[in-house]
Amino acid sequence: MSYKSEVKHQELLSWVQEIADHCTPDSIYWCDGSKQEYDTLCQKMVEKGTFTKLNPAKWENSYACFSDPSDVARVEDRTYICSRRREDAGPTNNWVEPKEMKDTLNGLLKGCMKGRTMYVIPFCMGPLGSPISQIGVEISDSEYVVVNMHIMTRVGRKVADALGADGEYIKCLHTVGAPLQAGQQDVKWPCNPTVKYIVHYPDERSIVSYGSGYGGNALLGKKCFALRIASVMGKEENWLAEHMLIMGVQNPEGKKYYIGAAFPSACGKTNFAMLIPPKEFEGWKVTTVGDDIAWIKPDKSGQLYAINPEYGYFGVAPGTNDKTNPNAMAAMRKNSIFTNVGITPDGDVWWEGLSKEVPKDITSWKGVKWDSASGQPVAHPNARFTAPASQCPSIDPDWENPQGVKISAFIFGGRRSTTIPLVYQAFNWNFGVYLASTMGSETTAAAFGEVGKVRRDPFAMLPFCGYHMADYFNHWLEFGRSLPNPPRIFGVNWFRKDENGNFLWPGFSDNMRVLQWVFNRIKGKTSSVESPIGWMPRYEDIDWTGLNFSRQDFEKIMTVDREAWKGELLAHEELFEKMYDRLPKEYVYMRQLLLSSLWRSPAQWGLAPETV
Ligand code: OXD
Ligand code: MN
Repeated sequence: MSYKSEVKHQELLSWVQEIADHCTPDSIYWCDGSKQEYDTLCQKMVEKGTFTKLNPAKWENSYACFSDPSDVARVEDRTYICSRRREDAGPTNNWVEPKEMKDTLNGLLKGCMKGRTMYVIPFCMGPLGSPISQIGVEISDSEYVVVNMHIMTRVGRKVADALGADGEYIKCLHTVGAPLQAGQQDVKWPCNPTVKYIVHYPDERSIVSYGSGYGGNALLGKKCFALRIASVMGKEENWLAEHMLIMGVQNPEGKKYYIGAAFPSACGKTNFAMLIPPKEFEGWKVTTVGDDIAWIKPDKSGQLYAINPEYGYFGVAPGTNDKTNPNAMAAMRKNSIFTNVGITPDGDVWWEGLSKEVPKDITSWKGVKWDSASGQPVAHPNARFTAPASQCPSIDPDWENPQGVKISAFIFGGRRSTTIPLVYQAFNWNFGVYLASTMGSETTAAAFGEVGKVRRDPFAMLPFCGYHMADYFNHWLEFGRSLPNPPRIFGVNWFRKDENGNFLWPGFSDNMRVLQWVFNRIKGKTSSVESPIGWMPRYEDIDWTGLNFSRQDFEKIMTVDREAWKGELLAHEELFEKMYDRLPKEYVYMRQLLLSSLWRSPAQWGLAPETV
């Protein structure tokens, strides 16, 4: 029984009707969020051939599917920020005048849901009732979207009820852009292989997505709402919507701090969020509040509190295994959806890095028997698991606390084979904001363009900031000014290589050693030295128990090399030139200061002897 007749929100009802009149679906269905609804839609997709039900002994109540080969990732070149004025979208976003974009989209949307069901999905980003949460309604003609939204957000009738008669919500319209003519057989993964648009109207706070059924393009609560639109809301309302994981770190005495950490795609963010300390770190505990997005607000006294607006993980599968991330493996054991991984004849899944051997007779993500001689991967490098956050063994007891968790530090990191040290602490808030604004990451096969090229990705927000990036920098500076005791800011780099091209740092669990130093710095307990770019640990400031890591290697991974930094500061200048008109004036001086402090220090700044 539909609950539509009991929905009190007239404006919502008329928006839904307006969309239905224009997109002409065969039917309209209001999602109630029940398990029965989830199971029915999964079964419908099994019958259609979209979903394969997995072997329940291995993956309980779970499914796998293959997308269309044209629809495997976010499409940044088809993503638009249609603010009223071009200047407000800034130089790093695609922009089209809103009226012009609406005309284009209205043309495409006319009749676009023919032959399909239009699903109305009321959803809440963050715990229902939290003062930090926000509500959205996604209209979509994709069953895949509905079931993924069930896992990734809080959905259904309870959210429609919470809206009442006049509650505010974000309008999110999604279509796969593949209408069906009478009698036309549907394909397993409907999408529009040639036309895709992911469009945001920040002034009216609405989203329209056309042509893709995949991940961040289609699950509009995630990148579109929780980052692009929410970042605009945050700027206007003095809060932060960030591309950050949130983790709790507790020492053996029971002292606990929460940390927000931003990394661009393909830097092991989910692994870090679910880190298990090495066995030698007895009594240390890491807990997970979120793995991708943080909404952060100051309370009355200026302390920052954060929630994870999501309800599940949409994680990259390749590379995930019982060693790299046992918590993620446990989280996805049941009630999960796998997209673009390999499927075995006995209902198992596989991806590169899951185990050494490729299972026999596996079907690759392209839907054909995998040929070991093809040189092609079994799983797409951006293959994903969608898993409920509540199933993660490291989930933090306060992950659904409506007040959020108190944030004591931010960490910013990228994938850099040279130049950036393993860890350092910014001198103060402004320098930290500068460091985050200028961070970069080397591209990988899974993420964009030429492999190994440094892509500047300020705050890991380049693809996700819904307004002018320099205004975003100003927002961070301004925001910090109002905080009496702002969180400490750190930079990390797990990916530095030696002269032979080998990674220097073991990563994964051993990142706990760095985290422990960060923890002790927050506590104000541990010592450090002052380098040209910030405070750094000496070899003796890190706990090496259980790891054979030499002083020489530590020097290599911590070196601040003058020549390399000259290049780095030039790259900062290149980034700044793009947004000069609105760049914080402080940045010019901070860059200058960095340059001169590099000059005053030895050419190879390693481990200065004096502690501070
Ligand atoms: C993601 C991303 O999918 O950042 O989370 O690309
Ligand atoms: Mn992300």
